[in-house]
Amino acid sequence: MLEEIRAYYLEANDSSIKSLKDAEAFKKRFLSKNGVVNSLFLRFKKLSHDEKKAVGKDINLLKKLCQEKVKAVQKSSRSKLNVISDLTRPTSNFTGSAHPITIINNQINEIFKSLGFYISSGPEIEDDWHNFEALNLPKDHPARDMQDTFFVKLEPDILLRTHTSSVQVRHMNENQPPIRTVSPGRVFRNEAVSSRAHCIFHQIEGLYIDEKVSFIDMKNLLFVFAKKFFGKDVVLRFRPSYFPFTEPSAEMDVFLGTETQADYKLTKGTGWLEILGCGMVDPKVLSNCNIDQKKYSGYAFGMGVERIAMLKYGVKDLRLFFENDLNFLKQFN
Ligand code: PHE
Repeated sequence: MLEEIRAYYLEANDSSIKSLKDAEAFKKRFLSKNGVVNSLFLRFKKLSHDEKKAVGKDINLLKKLCQEKVKAVQKSSRSKLNVISDLTRPTSNFTGSAHPITIINNQINEIFKSLGFYISSGPEIEDDWHNFEALNLPKDHPARDMQDTFFVKLEPDILLRTHTSSVQVRHMNENQPPIRTVSPGRVFRNEAVSSRAHCIFHQIEGLYIDEKVSFIDMKNLLFVFAKKFFGKDVVLRFRPSYFPFTEPSAEMDVFLGTETQADYKLTKGTGWLEILGCGMVDPKVLSNCNIDQKKYSGYAFGMGVERIAMLKYGVKDLRLFFENDLNFLKQFN
């Protein structure tokens, strides 16, 4: 009988019990009325005094092992349940922190505030006029392809804004110059997700309108901003570009180099990463928004916050900002 008990002990010890369901099956085999332990005790009763002495201890050891194994699983599944069922329980010691995009967003806004700009905001769900038409992008204009759109409703077209230039249209409609505003916010584009692009991202767009504003005012402002943000040694370049709502238009690039494979990929082999688009507001846009285009001129610019956060923190894949992996997020505070 001793051999038999030892074999049961090994079997019980080797059984893997991962769930409450496993525990039930295990209990049925070893601890139920007709289970192994009980039947050993029934046989035990019929043994002689000496035999009882030899066997009793081992049966008790087997029983204890079985009970402990069941208890351990019940305890761990109870604590899992508690965590799920009580969402108000304080977490261990992670107190939370600002998301890196929020941190960068705030830093950029602070710089523009220190340069005399104020913040304005508008809706994420827009109509066609504020997002496109008022900005010289009539229906069927080929430049609409630059910003693949998510439509919420067709005729009349309601859409998720593709840029925060829509906020500037609203702002010009409601205010007369001087205007000096930055509009931070989420924007949406129906684009393939990659290490450089996402279908949701954050922008900060700026607008400055007054009498006698020139291109050089804009260039100065953007250079001052970039030096304040990236440090005075940052290497910048201005490149001619095209936007339907500005004329002339430009883009500003920051030099990253191509030394690492990630930088090579991010800059498409050029070493330069585009961080913002800008230009002198097209007079037609001013008059679309009830601003006297003979008296006033101005400039506008728009930048992607994720791009800038990638540069500042050396993050090589934009998708990381959206995954909310705590190990990633904890690095920024
Ligand atoms: N709205 C443009 C974009 O989203 C950026 C931009 C803003 C360009 C203002 C010029 C002037 O790409």
